[in-house]
Amino acid sequence: MSRQHLTPLFTGVRTHAEKQPIQFHIPGHKQGAGMDPEFRSFIGENALSIDLINIAPLDDLHHPHGIIKEAQQLAAEAFGADHTFFSVQGTSGAIMTMIMSVCGPGDKIIVPRNVHKSIMSAIIFSGATPIFIHPEIDPRLGISHGITIDSVERALTAHPDAKGLLVINPTYFGISGNLIQIVELAHSFDVPVLVDEAHGVHIHFHDDLPVSAMQAGADMAATSVHKLGGSMTQSSILNVREGLVSAKRVQSIISMLTTTSTSYLLLASLDTARKQLATKGQELLSRVIDLAEQTREKINNIVGISCVGKEILGTKATYDMDPTKLIITVKDLGLTGHDVEVWLREHYSIEVEMSDLYNILCIVTIGDTQEKMNILVNALNELATEHKKVEPASVAAISVPNIPDLALSPRDAFYAETEVIPFDDSVGRIIAEFIMVYPPGIPILIPGEIISQDNLSYITENLRNDLPVQGPEDETFKTLRVIKEHRAIR
Ligand SMILES: Cc1ncc(COP(=O)(O)O)c(C=O)c1O
Repeated sequence: MSRQHLTPLFTGVRTHAEKQPIQFHIPGHKQGAGMDPEFRSFIGENALSIDLINIAPLDDLHHPHGIIKEAQQLAAEAFGADHTFFSVQGTSGAIMTMIMSVCGPGDKIIVPRNVHKSIMSAIIFSGATPIFIHPEIDPRLGISHGITIDSVERALTAHPDAKGLLVINPTYFGISGNLIQIVELAHSFDVPVLVDEAHGVHIHFHDDLPVSAMQAGADMAATSVHKLGGSMTQSSILNVREGLVSAKRVQSIISMLTTTSTSYLLLASLDTARKQLATKGQELLSRVIDLAEQTREKINNIVGISCVGKEILGTKATYDMDPTKLIITVKDLGLTGHDVEVWLREHYSIEVEMSDLYNILCIVTIGDTQEKMNILVNALNELATEHKKVEPASVAAISVPNIPDLALSPRDAFYAETEVIPFDDSVGRIIAEFIMVYPPGIPILIPGEIISQDNLSYITENLRNDLPVQGPEDETFKTLRVIKEHRAIR
């Protein structure tokens, strides 16, 4: 039996609970006894018995020396990292740690524009200046891919003093760039590469999936075990390769950003998810890839609906793809992805991962079965039959706004004096809040940017299509908060 079959953290917590110690410490529900009985019986005794806190036998995520340290070391071996840090603050916490480990006030960080909101939060916390790179847009699917080697080269040549390059790999839709070459390029400038690997925990564990961040030689990767790797929601990891970044610095920053009441349910689930991926990942993921590929083929036989496959590869931003992501394009039915999301919920009780103007995104994981995939295909068949007479042209054309000019650093804008003005009067003003379409969290405007008519039209179009535009204090979008302009007093 290999070391990867061991689960020191889960086994340690479970063994401790089985001894039924008399607890005079938090959590005060004391293994559920002090809890509302309805919730207690719903959640179950086992889960409550390991809802524990960092008492000495159970180690401490902030200063790991025992079972947490062992579990993190096993994870590092499994992911090919020098160090792995467990996060109970989601991948958002791991991403903020990556950025704050390399950037201080005024430092530059090169980031794609389609970043998750946690990256912008970290840029504000650290006081860094973002140097944005346009991601490649796929006009047929209306989605953004990753960044190209050419654009990374231009950014590094213009800003060789950048403290880091952040790459999203794979994207939410499962598309990967040529990460090995991007890493080599950044390292030739001595710039560390930080990878947002929120949608790629599984790719490290199967030969037919894209190269993972650690395989590509990246310096850090925030990897969502909870999204596609089988651990509990909110649990994630941060993988680190020493050299251009310091693991000691990472440990102190992650600790600054983490609750002192770390959930052992989340931590134990990371330990067991790592065991499953490391010991059975190749076998389990082979089945997932087959399920997804067969489903893709069936969907492509439905008139009016398509599901892109390997034919998407070959552009500068589409080097590889994760076939377990089903990008199902419905625009030829004359419907938006959002319409289809609602239709599937109402008619088949199917919940998709996300929808946008043209597509729905369905993820296929170790937890799926042939039966569930058949229900999806049947539902899409029925949908296509119901809507086959609709003219395709009725779907709005996708347009992506230009990246606005940055007038102030996001942090200076965030802390500046502000005022609220009508939405329609805001062109030319500096925005003081975030506006993004979420999921997947692509910013339209970030604090410090100059509002353009292009931005306002984009927001209006998304709202008109009932897509979730989020961020401003005024959820009705009648007003926006902008930086106050001080006029001369007569
Ligand atoms: C690309 C990307 N990065 C980071 C995150 C943050 O992950 P978490 O929800 O675990 O904090 C998400 C979440 O949706 C994401 O899509």
